[in-house]
Amino acid sequence: MKATSVLALIISLSIVAESKVYTRCKLAKIFVKAGLDNYGGFSLGNWICMAYYESHYNTTVQKVLEDGSTDYGIFQINSFTWCRNVRLQQKNHCHVACSALITDDLTDAILCAKKIVKETQGMNYWQGWKKHCEGKDMSEWQKGCEVS
Ligand SMILES: *[C@@H]1O[C@H](CO)[C@@H](O)[C@H](O)[C@H]1NC(C)=O
Repeated sequence: MKATSVLALIISLSIVAESKVYTRCKLAKIFVKAGLDNYGGFSLGNWICMAYYESHYNTTVQKVLEDGSTDYGIFQINSFTWCRNVRLQQKNHCHVACSALITDDLTDAILCAKKIVKETQGMNYWQGWKKHCEGKDMSEWQKGCEVS
């Protein structure tokens, strides 16, 4: 390999390894495009607020819980019920590898979040949402964002 292509490889590898933190408005745009606005009756602001309190819009956050399961990604989706990681005893309701929930591409995470809302009938799954967003005025969260 030429020195220039080695350099290009090193640069691209370091980009892949870097964590991605979305801005509020970029996320708003992606959420609208993916049909999250009013999904399950929850306005766009609810989704942005939830993602903020779960992950601070950081797609790579992983949190190991006391029971040995792990919460993954921007929506902190748990491995015990919703995705598949190396441990056994999982339900994997979203039919997805947990590792797919911590990538920059939010497609799988959004699909899984929609499934959670459907199967658990609402957004109560997310403690961050319950604590900080539920029942509050959510219009502020999309303020100043061009979403359509
Ligand atoms: C995002 O999360 C990862 C994993 O927890 C962490 O290493 C990284 O510093 C975070 N990025 C920011 C900008 O907070």
